[in-house]
Amino acid sequence: MSSQPGSNEDMSEENLPGERSDAHHGAVQPVGDPFADPGLPPHEPRRQDIDERTARRSERVVAFLFTLSMLATVGFIASYVTLPIHKIVYIFPIGHVSALNFALGLTLGVALFCIGAGAVHWARTLMSDHEVPQERHPIEASPEVRQQVMADFAQGAKESQLGRRKLIRNTMFGALALVPLSGVVLLRDLGPLPETKLRHTAWKKGMLLINQNTNQPLRPEDVAIGSLTFAKPEGLSDDDPEFQDVIAKAALMIVRLKPEDIKDKRELDWGHEGIVAFSKICTHVGCPISLYEQQTHHVLCPCHQSTFDLSDGGRVIFGPAGHALPQLRISVNDKGYLEALGDFAEPVGPSFWERG
Ligand code: FES
Repeated sequence: MSSQPGSNEDMSEENLPGERSDAHHGAVQPVGDPFADPGLPPHEPRRQDIDERTARRSERVVAFLFTLSMLATVGFIASYVTLPIHKIVYIFPIGHVSALNFALGLTLGVALFCIGAGAVHWARTLMSDHEVPQERHPIEASPEVRQQVMADFAQGAKESQLGRRKLIRNTMFGALALVPLSGVVLLRDLGPLPETKLRHTAWKKGMLLINQNTNQPLRPEDVAIGSLTFAKPEGLSDDDPEFQDVIAKAALMIVRLKPEDIKDKRELDWGHEGIVAFSKICTHVGCPISLYEQQTHHVLCPCHQSTFDLSDGGRVIFGPAGHALPQLRISVNDKGYLEALGDFAEPVGPSFWERG
């Protein structure tokens, strides 16, 4: 059977470019490298290499860019401190923008750009521009190569003229040192330090316990065994702008236990006939606790399953919470309402104070 033109059999007889076949053995051998290495073009010195006045001009340009970066960083900080947050300005062609955001973006952009532009100009005009071919080598560097790298580094430092061009060196260090300040001042946006605010809640002596659902002051007879009641301090309205801030620390869980079921003597003394009040804020990372198991008197935090025993001083019996739920000391006033006898004895919520 004869083969057809263009069939695989025909193609097997053809040579690829740059190869020839050995008629006797059928082997394919290369006939030379068609892409010879042209080598590096001869080095052309730049004007800065042969004219010191031109080199000095380049030096001044680099120093100017680094100085501009420093000024922009100072402008960033000044804008952050002085510009009102709600001031709107018209910027062509962008339109109406926040003056503060515009100033921060512009100054930070200029500060970073000038550092980059200064470094590029420095490299292109003053640093050595001799091209050096680098041979491929195994990934793991030999001691000789590492030694060579260090020598090259030292040579590069020398050729960059860092030691000689003190103006560039000083302004570059100044620009690099100042630019991180932009990030430091933004830490102010995290808000004021809490100081002692986290150590206290809104509860005060004589304050009535208000049912959070009905907004009515609680009487002992309103708290049945097995029920879980949430309470807030007297005088705190749901419409109050401060409501969330206050309730985040002052939220209260009230349960009634049989006095004989309470294991902790202090807990019994701080309650009223088995009615006890605990902080609703989990001592792990502050989630509101809401799951009550009346048979065991356990409350469960839904976030990470910390479990507290309300019959044993709010002790942690499971989960990542670090310490017991704080208990609020309560009593009944002469009108028959439940009232607080003061603030919590310890800060509520996550145990930040234990770090001190
Ligand atoms: S916040 Fe309650 S267990 Fe994590």
